Amino acid sequence: MLKQAVKTAKVRTPVKERAFIVKGGNPLRGEVILNGAKNAATKQLVAALLADEPVVLHNVPKIGDVTATIEMLEGLGVGIKVDGHTVTIDPRTLNTSQVSAALSRKNRIPILLMGPLIHRFGEASIPSLGGCQIGPRPIDIHLEGLKQMGAEISEGDGYYKAKSKKLKAALIELRFPSVGATENLMLAAVKAKGTTVITNAAVEPEILDTAKLLQSMGAIINLETNRTWVIEGVDRLGGAEHSVIPDRIEAASFGIAAALTKGEIFVRHAKQDDLLTFLNAIRRVGVPFKVEEDGILFGHADEYRPVTLETDTHPGFMTDWQQPFVMLLTQAKGVSIVHETIFEDRFGYTESLVKMGANIQLHSDCLGSKECRFKHKNFLHSCIISGSTPLKSAEICIPDLRAGFSYLLAALMAKGESRVTGVELIERGYEDIIGKLKKLGAEIDAE
Ligand code: EPZ
Repeated sequence: MLKQAVKTAKVRTPVKERAFIVKGGNPLRGEVILNGAKNAATKQLVAALLADEPVVLHNVPKIGDVTATIEMLEGLGVGIKVDGHTVTIDPRTLNTSQVSAALSRKNRIPILLMGPLIHRFGEASIPSLGGCQIGPRPIDIHLEGLKQMGAEISEGDGYYKAKSKKLKAALIELRFPSVGATENLMLAAVKAKGTTVITNAAVEPEILDTAKLLQSMGAIINLETNRTWVIEGVDRLGGAEHSVIPDRIEAASFGIAAALTKGEIFVRHAKQDDLLTFLNAIRRVGVPFKVEEDGILFGHADEYRPVTLETDTHPGFMTDWQQPFVMLLTQAKGVSIVHETIFEDRFGYTESLVKMGANIQLHSDCLGSKECRFKHKNFLHSCIISGSTPLKSAEICIPDLRAGFSYLLAALMAKGESRVTGVELIERGYEDIIGKLKKLGAEIDAE
């Protein structure tokens, strides 16, 4: 036994931390083709489980979160075929209501399985969640809504366990328009008995895209005025074919990359409808853009103007655009203010940017035109950015997915060579990030 242990210890070599090496200074020029939205594709893979026939999804991005979701579904017995960006999900072989912890702690998606698993088995067992560390990220709103629909839910030993013979419709008013809770309740309501009304709900374009898939599968689902989803439960959902919407976060990321590196990037498939608020914000800063037939051309200016801005739920300025936007503001001449009202702890990433030369101060007050849920709670959720400041290269470690792209932006602008670690986090949400940046002229390589 001891001999065996010694042998194993000898064979084990330390896993080398992966890194991107980035040489800054090149203007990024050319075209980038957007992939499908992570925050629609991952939910739609789960929605497919509600059907009793195969569902075909096109434009599914090849990213870490999609791979993790597919592995989790395969662990439940679901048949999955991947052919390029097309994924066929066959839910007929789904054979267990117990989600494996080993296959599901990477992101927030598993909790969305509650409705589909209860509809199929009358019960669901779901491990506690992973995902980016940007605040405590409770799921109380999800669970309260499901309880209103008749699910009995208990928590313990790292699992949420739910059961219900038949979920029933309910009138549910969300305390906050949570994206995940809205999706969770939508997936439960489409096959519940009666008409469910969800008020103060989230209405992000990715949710609308998932509603479109559900409608193609046979659901009766309507978005009404005032953040209200009305969903008439149906007995069965069938197969469908659907194309995932382009990723508006990736679009904004590359738009800002053009502005910051003094380049010009045509972002193919970027949709003005889904970027309206973002485009207004960058126009105020002075970033030129032109909306074209199948995309948006982003350019640069010699100088940028400071602005004040607040993140918000859709149609407000997305919290996932905040990180590249803060990078942009480090290069605006004067003082800018950004008030983060969605996640209480989403500015931690700025510490490394300060080390690289940015002038960013964090505050716990609500520095903006409105007070948010985090008032008097001591969360550093407002920031003051004074620019413009040149950035110098550094060794930086990515703390979360969206901060990751802003670190790449910082490295692409900085003089000298930066080493960026924690790159798996970027790969959770951006397909072929090195290939795309290289094609635009960036000097970036995986170590
Ligand atoms: C989704 O997270 C996205 N993730 C996030 O993108 C995005 O930033 C966020 O929506 C907001 O747009 C996915 O779609 C997988 P929420 P989600 O529920 O659903 C509080 C990325 O990088 N809340 O709308 O988790 C919560 O703590 C990721 O792509 C409760 O209090 O977001 C937060 O403060 C990061 N109780 C706020 O609501 C609940 O039960 C918004 O969360 C649920 C949420």
